[in-house]
Order: sequence, then C-alpha cells, then structure tokens
Amino acid sequence: MTAERIPIGADHAGFELKEKLKGVLAELGYAVEDVGTHSAASVDYPDYAHPVAREVETGKARRGVLLCGTGLGMAYAANRHPHVRAAVAWNTEVAAYSRLHNDANILVLPARCISEAEGVDILKTWLDTPFEGGRHERRVEKIEREEEQ
Ligand code: RB5
Repeated sequence: MTAERIPIGADHAGFELKEKLKGVLAELGYAVEDVGTHSAASVDYPDYAHPVAREVETGKARRGVLLCGTGLGMAYAANRHPHVRAAVAWNTEVAAYSRLHNDANILVLPARCISEAEGVDILKTWLDTPFEGGRHERRVEKIEREEEQ
C-alpha cells in the first residue's frame, strides 16, 4: 500500500514545530511533503498556505498540515481554496471535533500558543479521528452552497 502523502508548510513562527511534526508523521508511515519554510528567517505565511491548500483543493493530497504563530493567517489563506476546510486546533478536543463534525482536511496549528508535546497530541488526534457524517454531511455540503441560501 502506498503511504498517504501529507503536505506540510509553516512560516518562521511554525518552523521549529514543523520540523518536529515531520518526524512524527514519518514515524507514523506518512509520506511527508515539506513545502517550507526551511529556516527560522522571517517569511510570509500565505506563501506556504497556498501550496498546501492547492494540493488538497486539487485532490493531489487528501489532507495537509499548516503552522504559523496563531494559526489564523494560515487558515484565512487556505480557506480561500474551494473544497478546503482548514481548522485551527489549539487542543485535542477542537482537533477531534474539526474532524468529527466539520470534516476538516487541513489541520492548522498555532505554534506560538501550544507546546511541542501538545502539537504532537493534536496532530495524532486529528489524523486518527474520522468524519462522523450523518447530519454533519449536510452542513458541510452547505458551506460551499452559500449562493443558494
Ligand atoms: C508571524 O509573526 C505571525 O504573524 C504569523 O505566524 C501568524 O501568527 C499569522 O497569522
């Protein structure tokens, strides 16, 4: 079986945690695709959000991971892409609900607001939690049918 490809991207604020999470993903058997950044030098978060979101939008990847200081800038940029549901998760409960209820396909981590251990737990929870479907399916479908409301 081919390993699931997971694109991951971060700005300077998320760089260090990204490096840690890359190792965790590889240990779990995922094929990690690092779109950068590759150092702690200051960069612009949209430059990393868009490549990861594009992979999910086009179906080249089923899921992706983004990191910045608060998670907010990455989420704003990624959520401009059709079919992308990027969720900022600051604890395991939010991560689980972002999958169970919202079928989030990009996890966004607020690297300046969580510890490394919390980041690892949030990532593992998010990866392992399925979408609940049912009534949530209808709600998720309505996200992209805004013009019909
Ligand atoms: C960078 O200083 C910071 O603004 C960025 O990482 C992020 O938090 C933006 O939303």
